[in-house]
Amino acid sequence: MRARTERDELSKDLSAGVTKPLCFLIVFVIGIVIGLASSSHVDRYFTSQPYNLNRGRESIPPNSPSTSSITQTTYDQKCTTSTDIVTNCVKDECLSMKSFLSQKNLNHNMTDEELFWRASLVPDKAHYPFDRMPKLAFMFLTRGPLPFIPLWERFFKGQDVRKYSIYVHTSPEFDLGVSNSSVFYNRQIPSQVVEWGTVSLVDAERRLLSNALLDFSNERFILLSESCIPIYNFQKIYKYLTKSIYSYLDSYDDPSRYGRGRYNTYMKPEIRIRDWRKGSQWFEMHRALAIKIISDSKYYDLFKKYCTDDCYPDEHYMPTFVHMFYGELNSDRTVTYVDWSVGGPHPVIFEGGNITKGVLESLRKSGKNCVYNKGTTDVCYLFARKFDPSALEPLLEISSVVLEY
Ligand SMILES: *[C@@H]1O[C@H](CO)[C@@H](O)[C@H](O)[C@H]1NC(C)=O
Ligand SMILES: *[C@@H]1O[C@H](CO)[C@@H](O)[C@H](O)[C@H]1NC(C)=O
Ligand SMILES: *[C@@H]1O[C@H](CO)[C@@H](O)[C@H](O)[C@H]1NC(C)=O
Repeated sequence: MRARTERDELSKDLSAGVTKPLCFLIVFVIGIVIGLASSSHVDRYFTSQPYNLNRGRESIPPNSPSTSSITQTTYDQKCTTSTDIVTNCVKDECLSMKSFLSQKNLNHNMTDEELFWRASLVPDKAHYPFDRMPKLAFMFLTRGPLPFIPLWERFFKGQDVRKYSIYVHTSPEFDLGVSNSSVFYNRQIPSQVVEWGTVSLVDAERRLLSNALLDFSNERFILLSESCIPIYNFQKIYKYLTKSIYSYLDSYDDPSRYGRGRYNTYMKPEIRIRDWRKGSQWFEMHRALAIKIISDSKYYDLFKKYCTDDCYPDEHYMPTFVHMFYGELNSDRTVTYVDWSVGGPHPVIFEGGNITKGVLESLRKSGKNCVYNKGTTDVCYLFARKFDPSALEPLLEISSVVLEY
């Protein structure tokens, strides 16, 4: 590689400057020889220690019982080395088109850098060589359990499995422990430790997006927490999102100390204070926007470096980045309801006793109108938070009547 670059430069030099002295050429040839010698040394050095460089970055302990029981078995048995891939693997799991398009086994040991790069690949060909049904990717970001799994199971029950996919990012050692009949079975992605309020939260969001992008049928990407519930049925949400020309990423200018107050002037000149935006982290976005977000490193690096100490990168990185470059793709609003009216650092939490027909109906139709494509709609929210686990039973009781699932 290095030698070729030098040769290219050399031929450029020759065509450009006919008068270049011969001794320069001689020095250059010596340079190439040294370059070749040292680069082959470097190659040998790296190939002799294949993957050890990245080992430390993987937070999942290699022999952790919980993670290995979830996913590793199939992978290790079937695709251990490159020669085994061809001879030993089940056809669907390895070199087939099917496994390229959507991975049944979500386990992999790519680093974030490798994963984001792979997920950023976009086909140049306009037509897919298969019947592509656009999918909704439901991406759950949680530390531990998902208390509303029974409600989500009901939401997904009977739906066309070609229309959705589920991804779960937990603490690395956490096992959801669902049975093999659950739609959440085997849907945990390789996760890393997340510290709330730090850039590691943005990393987890981008990790979820990237894993979901590997499935070429995923069209819309929804970030959800363990306290989120759907407030419409699947068909309605599917139609709303797949027919939408915009993404739903909250993004606004907040002049207070909780908005502009978190801006750091070291981000100049790339990010100026008038570019600075805030917004809830619970986004919904189109594939095209998701690819832009995981492909960015310049602005991400600025946030990693300068959005620290009560800055909350998860509330500013995507809203600012999208506002600066892809504002025309975004509706600047979120489809996940939350009630901040009580004031203070925490929103209203709906407990068991709060779950009534009236409350749920008021979430579905808040009385305001929101922009939808070129018009408006009175359906502003498709999901809602925050629900306490005690709300599960009452929700299961009235979901079929009020939420239509
Ligand atoms: C990834 O997994 C493969 C197959 O199990 C293994 O050969 C390789 O060494 C692993 N790489 C890393 C970085 O752990
Ligand atoms: C699911 O698990 C049960 C018991 O744990 C087992 O008998 C059954 O074969 C499994 N089904 C599939 C499809 O893996
Ligand atoms: C939920 O119920 C609690 C206790 O009954 C009450 O204090 C709170 O105001 C209710 N919240 C809502 C949003 O209705």
